[in-house]
Amino acid sequence: MTAGPAPRPVIVVMGVSGSGKSTVGGLLAERLGVPYAEADDFHPAANIAKMSAGHPLDDADRAPWLDAIAEWITGRGDLGGVVSCSALRRRYRDRLRAGTTPVFFLHLDGSPELIAARLAARMQHFMPPGLLDSQFAALEPLAPDEAGAVVTIDGGPQQITERALAAVPR
Ligand SMILES: Nc1ncnc2c1ncn2[C@@H]1O[C@H](COP(=O)(O)OP(=O)(O)OP(=O)(O)O)[C@@H](O)[C@H]1O
Ligand SMILES: [Mg+2]
Repeated sequence: MTAGPAPRPVIVVMGVSGSGKSTVGGLLAERLGVPYAEADDFHPAANIAKMSAGHPLDDADRAPWLDAIAEWITGRGDLGGVVSCSALRRRYRDRLRAGTTPVFFLHLDGSPELIAARLAARMQHFMPPGLLDSQFAALEPLAPDEAGAVVTIDGGPQQITERALAAVPR
């Protein structure tokens, strides 16, 4: 009797704005040969308008957004996937892993100085750099009981992606 293919988790690339979630998430999905989704694309228009005006979202705003991402994760079954999502608070991560699909969190971790510099270099994006402080204030690092890993964001995107590949379940 032959076993079927091993179930593959959905990898949620998490971290503050500017930590490189979209950059690394896309590269990681390519290397793993699985679909990639961008959490920003799951925001209702009202959330984008609010962020564009420089206001942080509250948890009521985030609920439909997290629900939509969780639905995408569930839709992957055990075929694998990568989705970028800040997932700063444990309760957001709890929402994302509440379904039957296994979820693995990959936290892109770097200093506020490094991330601020990368944000400053990035133009035409709806996240004003002034919100970085509130992002760090909100960040709740992965707890020991959460399936996941921390990857440092020093170096270039390819280097970080190699680190990510070494850290995720294969
Ligand atoms: N390793 C890297 N070295 C240099 N620049 C990088 C690196 N990774 C990402 N960048 C650049 O830093 C900026 C932030 O990266 P990116 O947009 O991927 O972050 P993000 O976490 O997706 O941010 P957001 O939460 O706002 O969507 C981008 O301009 C990106 O091109
Ligand atoms: Mg992004």
